[in-house]
Amino acid sequence: MPVLVVREAADAAPLAKALIAGGLPALEVTLRTPAALDVIAAMAEIPGGVVGAGTLVTPQDVRAAKAAGAEFGVSPGATDALTEACLEEDLPLLPGAATASEAMRLLERGYTTQKFFPAEASGGAPALKAIGAPLPQIRFCPTGGISLSNARDYLGLSNVLCAGGSWVAPDALVSAQAWDEITTLAREAKRLLSV
Ligand code: 3PG
Repeated sequence: MPVLVVREAADAAPLAKALIAGGLPALEVTLRTPAALDVIAAMAEIPGGVVGAGTLVTPQDVRAAKAAGAEFGVSPGATDALTEACLEEDLPLLPGAATASEAMRLLERGYTTQKFFPAEASGGAPALKAIGAPLPQIRFCPTGGISLSNARDYLGLSNVLCAGGSWVAPDALVSAQAWDEITTLAREAKRLLSV
């Protein structure tokens, strides 16, 4: 899943089309730029994609993301206020956890699918594999420090559903509006699943 930091709303539609064309329809737009909500709204109009809002930290973020058209949310960690806001707004959430205790607390709230973040800094694939031994009922989407070179380490784990990262749409290529190159990166990422 591409983790997107988009500065210009005008880039939203061509970027979404480039990623969808490369086989990656689930798009996480991080709320890290002033344009992010406009980017979500623009991407939500593109056929074939499923647009979510990332970097949800507060209930206000959740409400704004939902109003902009996000179909799911992603958060680096989780608080009661955040998960309650997602329930109130009916926004499916991929909440972040980095430790067994965090994962267990989220499991108590019913989250059987979680984001493992920051993946590489938290011990990488070996740490996630170790967490999976006692907690096999949780599926993870690791993000943070993942790229083409190490994604397979994660995707091979039985408790990993997908992996996310910014490497498929790097800042330099988005700024250069290098949509074809982004489609190529998306294809390469998609191919990780079939090899
Ligand atoms: C995230 O929010 O998931 C991470 O910031 C993505 O990390 P990356 O830029 O290392 O892929």
